[in-house]
Amino acid sequence: MNKVRMGIVGLGNMGKFHADYLLNHQVSRAELTAVSDAIPANLERYPSLATFARSEDMIRSGLIDAVIIATPHYLHTTIGIDALERGLHVLVEKPISVHKADCERLLAAHKDPKLVFAAMFQLRTDGKFKKLKQLVSNGELGELFRVSWIISDWYRTEAYYASGGWRATWKGEGGGVLLNQCPHNLDLMQWICGRPSKVRGFCQLGRYHAIEVEDNVTAYLEWPNGATGVFITSTGEAPGTNRFEICGDRGKLVLEQGKITFTRNEIPMREFSRTSKAGFARPEVWNVDVPYEGTSPQHHEITQNFVDAILDGKPLIAPAAEGVYSVEMANAMLYSALINDTVSLPLDGQAYEKKLNQLIAESKFQKKTVQVTAEDFTKSFVK
Ligand SMILES: NC(=O)c1ccc[n+]([C@@H]2O[C@H](COP(=O)([O-])OP(=O)(O)OC[C@H]3O[C@@H](n4cnc5c(N)ncnc54)[C@H](O)[C@@H]3O)[C@@H](O)[C@H]2O)c1
Repeated sequence: MNKVRMGIVGLGNMGKFHADYLLNHQVSRAELTAVSDAIPANLERYPSLATFARSEDMIRSGLIDAVIIATPHYLHTTIGIDALERGLHVLVEKPISVHKADCERLLAAHKDPKLVFAAMFQLRTDGKFKKLKQLVSNGELGELFRVSWIISDWYRTEAYYASGGWRATWKGEGGGVLLNQCPHNLDLMQWICGRPSKVRGFCQLGRYHAIEVEDNVTAYLEWPNGATGVFITSTGEAPGTNRFEICGDRGKLVLEQGKITFTRNEIPMREFSRTSKAGFARPEVWNVDVPYEGTSPQHHEITQNFVDAILDGKPLIAPAAEGVYSVEMANAMLYSALINDTVSLPLDGQAYEKKLNQLIAESKFQKKTVQVTAEDFTKSFVK
């Protein structure tokens, strides 16, 4: 095989975007041959491609080697399992599933090691996050002690929530800001800083919008070495903040307004504390502006990497197997808030699924949808 024949399931905001860059040949050695969507009008936009109302038929058509899944999240699991069992390579949108138990079902279907299974965590290709990961992994910060990410600039209007019947409902989406906007941030946080072992979440449901799920979250986190952190997010706050701060023995990294600053301790803080004879002294610091290369758009880079993995065995930037970690953290924040207690990780996926099913069963929420004005969807991507 010297070319990958691609299909896309789901031609809403995201699926359309994937189709556009594939049709514009921004991914080499990939050819978009088929698309599938439940809404016929979405298929009519692609008269030159094979079109399918049912993903099952596209998956069995023999016309594609690989599929991008860009449907509402719950379907990632069922369509992903179907595609993997039928021998297709799969690139699934974030979150890979709505909850941990579904992630495990989906990942269990990836039995054939020859099949490439990747997730769309495009921010892993963004220069600033690659640089943060490199600095932390290289030990520039020494041992990590505190992580804080205030990402409260995911502002969304009521019209956004009303734009799709599935959005912001327990049954259709399985959560709010943590499941839709934050999978990227949660993935990056664990990718750069490692996985926390304890979570205490405080989630306000429908704080700013007429929705039944969380749109305002503050979570306290603890890592196995005792490092602590906070993760604060909202879709209702304007102007919001996006500040990611990582503190370690050797100093502090801050990413804000697209700029990375590294305030580096000349002497590591614990050593200084042990050895200084003065009570109010503090380590001398160097202030470093850290350069990095490359920002958005990044989706096609993940797709290119997916194609290169299929054709050349190139390592994946974002293997789907790592997608469970961001889902688990989102679930843990919600679960902790719902049971009003601290949650240890690994999360009990069955217990969370039961809680979510209870929320679905008890929901009295009437979702209203409206036709929204067409606008540039790429404005929604994180900066
Ligand atoms: N990586 C990113 O930056 C990014 C950005 C936005 C959305 N997403 C993800 O993409 C996914 C879709 O989000 P969206 O904003 O495009 O939603 P959307 O509502 O705009 O689009 C979903 C599409 O799926 C179609 N669909 C629903 N059920 C289907 C089925 N059974 N078979 C085929 N098609 C079906 C719908 O008709 C619709 O066209 C979500 O999981 C979301 O988290 C990722």
